[in-house]
Amino acid sequence: VAEMKECSAEERDRGRRLALVPTMGAFHEGHLSLIAAAGQDSDLLVVSIFVNPTQFGPGEDYEAYPRDFEKDVQQAEELGVHVVYAPSVEEMYPQGYEMYVEADRTGHILCGRSRPGHFRGVLSVVLKLFTAVNPHKAYFGEKDYQQLLLIRRMVADFHLDVEVVGMPIVREPDGLAASSRNAYLSSEARQSALGLSRALFRARETVTGGERDAAALRRKIISWLEEDRRVVVDYVAVCHPETLEEVRRIGEEVVILLAAKVEGTRLIDNLRVAT
Ligand code: PAF
Repeated sequence: VAEMKECSAEERDRGRRLALVPTMGAFHEGHLSLIAAAGQDSDLLVVSIFVNPTQFGPGEDYEAYPRDFEKDVQQAEELGVHVVYAPSVEEMYPQGYEMYVEADRTGHILCGRSRPGHFRGVLSVVLKLFTAVNPHKAYFGEKDYQQLLLIRRMVADFHLDVEVVGMPIVREPDGLAASSRNAYLSSEARQSALGLSRALFRARETVTGGERDAAALRRKIISWLEEDRRVVVDYVAVCHPETLEEVRRIGEEVVILLAAKVEGTRLIDNLRVAT
């Protein structure tokens, strides 16, 4: 942490612009798009790799989470990353550690309801990464839509001097949203996982076709997802894109968010839909 802070302070003194891409490693196309965008927009490109234990609940996949540090570092180098910041768990959470960032309402709905404590862990570690790296800009993917909104909220509420940049979801050619957890999927499960993005695209067509009743749309999406017995729906929500309040009528623009387990692997996806 001290080394990172020193490096950041020196670079800032020289007038350099710092960009941070926070990751938990096991890079996929989504990470690469964040790194590419951040690289275009900065003099010093920092990528953090830290599998953050506090954002995983008991019984979740912290131990099993895909890790390939050597490959990530090599890829980072090839992509022109200047600094890979990879603190240890012991340094991030030493004996006696007590402080967390806790969001109100938005931290406890959707993924926050299914994964109690998840956003508390995410926001706390992101604040710690911001403190150590002190970047001008930080890049996050829109696949974790709720996370992105909460990070923006934290930056606003704590008056942090960092610009949060959200980047569009990267999808495989068949529509599957890029995710480190896709590595867990068997080929059958991967086929079933395609149902998530398909349901979102079908929902968009349904809205374009005139559907304005959010509850009816939600029921349709759930029924499409449940046509596949490998898919267990956690939630489907039709929300206001800025507040994540569930809407009754589909007005100008909504974001449809969903989470489901496919043969035990929890996947999330979302799509912004305009009328
Ligand atoms: O989106 C992620 O990979 C993580 O939640 C983040 C933002 C790196 C915090 O650990």
